[in-house]
Amino acid sequence: MILQKTKFRPCEPEDRYAILALQRRAFGGEGEAQLVDALLDGPLECISMVAELDGMIVGHVLLSRLVGPERALALAPLGVDPEWRDFLIGTELTNRAIAKARDEDWHAIFVVGDPVYYGRFGFKADLAEHVGTPYPGPHFMALELVPGAVADYRGDVRYAEAFEGV
Ligand SMILES: CC(C)(COP(=O)(O)OP(=O)(O)OC[C@H]1O[C@@H](n2cnc3c(N)ncnc32)[C@H](O)[C@@H]1OP(=O)(O)O)[C@@H](O)C(=O)NCCC(=O)NCCS
Repeated sequence: MILQKTKFRPCEPEDRYAILALQRRAFGGEGEAQLVDALLDGPLECISMVAELDGMIVGHVLLSRLVGPERALALAPLGVDPEWRDFLIGTELTNRAIAKARDEDWHAIFVVGDPVYYGRFGFKADLAEHVGTPYPGPHFMALELVPGAVADYRGDVRYAEAFEGV
């Protein structure tokens, strides 16, 4: 019911303060809100999607270009309002963002997160384990939108400066 009432859409410039407030509530601190603020102002191509319930922003996900395999994105952050968790808003938001990335011809998405949560979207740590990253280990995962985009890549990924310290 909550999910059916939730609207999922690309963010608009006038959503900015509501998105920052949401990310603060979701993570209980400033770090992710500052990351979003910097990335949305920066030169990198982004996919930024919100979940809106009765006119309130209750979820937000950001994907931004990283340096690495051709046309690759970093998914971060994903946040859902603590009041509105476990209604599959995060799942739907992520699925919509992945679909948009596919439509826009992105080839791969990397994430650093919980393997169980992100496994539901097809992210895999073993696919990314040969890729050099500042976040090595089982939480560093990849999803290929184009077969071979990550498996055939040899090298590192480099995140935008805004990620440092988050
Ligand atoms: C993680 C988060 C986005 C999930 O949003 P949500 O809308 O509640 O998620 P959904 O309703 O789609 O999915 C709920 C599932 O996520 C699991 N889950 C919730 N928070 C989680 C977390 N921090 N890590 C791993 N799994 C989590 C729940 O146990 C539930 O599992 P189930 O489907 O097996 O019962 C939300 O809890 C959040 O904003 N957390 C704080 C910020 C964060 O940790 N973001 C992700 C890292 S970038």
